[in-house]
Amino acid sequence: RAARALEGACVLLTAGPTREPLDPVRFLSNRSSGQMGFALAAALRELGASVVMIAGPTALPTPPSVERIDVETALEMYLAVMTRVADCDVFVATAAVADYRPVNVAEHKIKKHADEFTLHLVRNPDILGEVAALTASPFTVGFAAETDHVIDYARAKLQHKQLNMIAANQVGGAQGGFECTDNALTVIWDDGQCELPMQPKSQLARQLAQCIAERYQIYHAS
Ligand code: C5P
Repeated sequence: RAARALEGACVLLTAGPTREPLDPVRFLSNRSSGQMGFALAAALRELGASVVMIAGPTALPTPPSVERIDVETALEMYLAVMTRVADCDVFVATAAVADYRPVNVAEHKIKKHADEFTLHLVRNPDILGEVAALTASPFTVGFAAETDHVIDYARAKLQHKQLNMIAANQVGGAQGGFECTDNALTVIWDDGQCELPMQPKSQLARQLAQCIAERYQIYHAS
């Protein structure tokens, strides 16, 4: 058997959407299926890493030998990540975290009265940004889903958030992304990039895991 590139490394990964409750029966969320994150957790595990996955609500089964922690909200995901980040070597943020949450969660179901209803929202913590900003930050990998100027925005995000790597993809139209089984990625780091062509997310995740392992080994050795 070939030597496994991430043997001995610990990976912490976020996956899926988050849900931000409005009242006991309603929430704000997004179209993330969690497929890419779950496939990447499986692929990183196949390379020998021990993988802890913090997952928002999805219908997907846990990949073999992956430790899974289920959360609902962005704040829960943030706390779950922050209590475990000190033990990890690599952090991968695939989750589609809600940028905002309702300021107040109603104790009882909100009833309809007026013709207009205004929601008051507040920013959620940027989990990826906070991890990358830690003094002893792990090797940090983010995602960037954009509808246009994909590479420019992703490279700016890499620098601005001080990431080690970012995986960028075009969303919208026939480009793949959310709710699709196929996707393509451009993987970007400080002095290079590579293209992973359109293919099923399970295969794409294996290529991305290889790419993360290669860059992590170079980073780890320096
Ligand atoms: O800034 P933007 O939301 O486009 O960045 C996307 C990347 O940041 C993804 O890797 C996502 O998992 C991560 N993120 C996060 N916490 C947030 C928002 C995004 O970890 N609150």
